[in-house]
Amino acid sequence: MEAIILVGGFGTRLRPLTLTVPKPLLPLANIPMVERMIRNLPEIFDTAILAVNYGLNDMRKYFEGRDIGKKVIIVPEEEPLGTGGAMRNCIDYVTGTTAVFNGDVVSSINLNEMLEQHIKTKAKGTLALWKVKDPSRFGVVEFSNGEILQFQEKPEKGSELSNLINAGTYLLELEILEMIPPNQKISIERDIYPKVAGNGLHGFPFEGYFIDSGTPESYLEANFKSIGNNGTASHTGASIRGSVMIHEDAKLEHCIIGPNVIIGPKVKLEKCVIRNSVILSNVNSYGTVIEDSIIGPNIQVKNDIKQNLISPEGKIAF
Ligand code: GDD
Ligand code: MG
Repeated sequence: MEAIILVGGFGTRLRPLTLTVPKPLLPLANIPMVERMIRNLPEIFDTAILAVNYGLNDMRKYFEGRDIGKKVIIVPEEEPLGTGGAMRNCIDYVTGTTAVFNGDVVSSINLNEMLEQHIKTKAKGTLALWKVKDPSRFGVVEFSNGEILQFQEKPEKGSELSNLINAGTYLLELEILEMIPPNQKISIERDIYPKVAGNGLHGFPFEGYFIDSGTPESYLEANFKSIGNNGTASHTGASIRGSVMIHEDAKLEHCIIGPNVIIGPKVKLEKCVIRNSVILSNVNSYGTVIEDSIIGPNIQVKNDIKQNLISPEGKIAF
């Protein structure tokens, strides 16, 4: 069974970081986001298809010769084809019921349960659904008795049909992929789902967590969630507070680390205090306090930092 992962976006809200690293290759708890997604696929999936435009060469280089337990097929787009066009562009590589993921979503969805429901209901498509307070910046559904009766993408505030949003994880029959006109820019959310709603489109509400990791704040949150139970309990060069992950190739001396800290490979820190932050590879610092920030890769930090994204291409406060 195949899973398509949509990884075409520019990652604009994570600039300047994404000027040097395409968003899907940004790490979540030290593993690139897209690799984490592939590794998390249930066993029944043997193939991951990456629908890529921006960052194509980096992505090819990353996956070349790397064994991550599934077959990985990279399908390029010359021009961005939109979410629907990108799926359609992968049609030659799928063999039946297909899972599709927005590559920027980190969630606690149980795909096996969703698949079980999809098969039982004989739906043409099943969309994972998540409840939010402000649905207007998402896809919103009218949902009744398991079925999606209407779909509205990014509705105006006040006109939302409900608080249930499209969580960016789908199970689709070939019939839906075939509805998408080929070689055109098509949004699955604007051009296709509104037409299938009320006619075999089902919903799968789930609980736990859902993070669209596109902003500095949500990228931090997605990282902290991804530490899971694999955190570092102790480290010779640091006093550890709460949930922390320290790469084995990092060197720490006399540091206080945590809560919610991820430290990447080749990082060297001495006499630093780090809280609620992601430190990417090859960052050096002495005697600083770093809080609520994303730093790196390849940066030397000389001053205390709070709520900043600092990358080789520049920095932003958030
Ligand atoms: N290959 C490819 N080509 N991928 C694309 C393209 C494209 O032209 N355009 C977008 N994508 C990918 C993005 O990289 C991302 O992984 C996914 O498709 C969704 O695009 P976003 O730009 O992140 O959309 P969004 O976050 O505003 O809204 C989407 O996600 C919400 C949930 O987070 C929609 O699906 C909403 O309905 C949904 O609620
Ligand atoms: Mg998104």
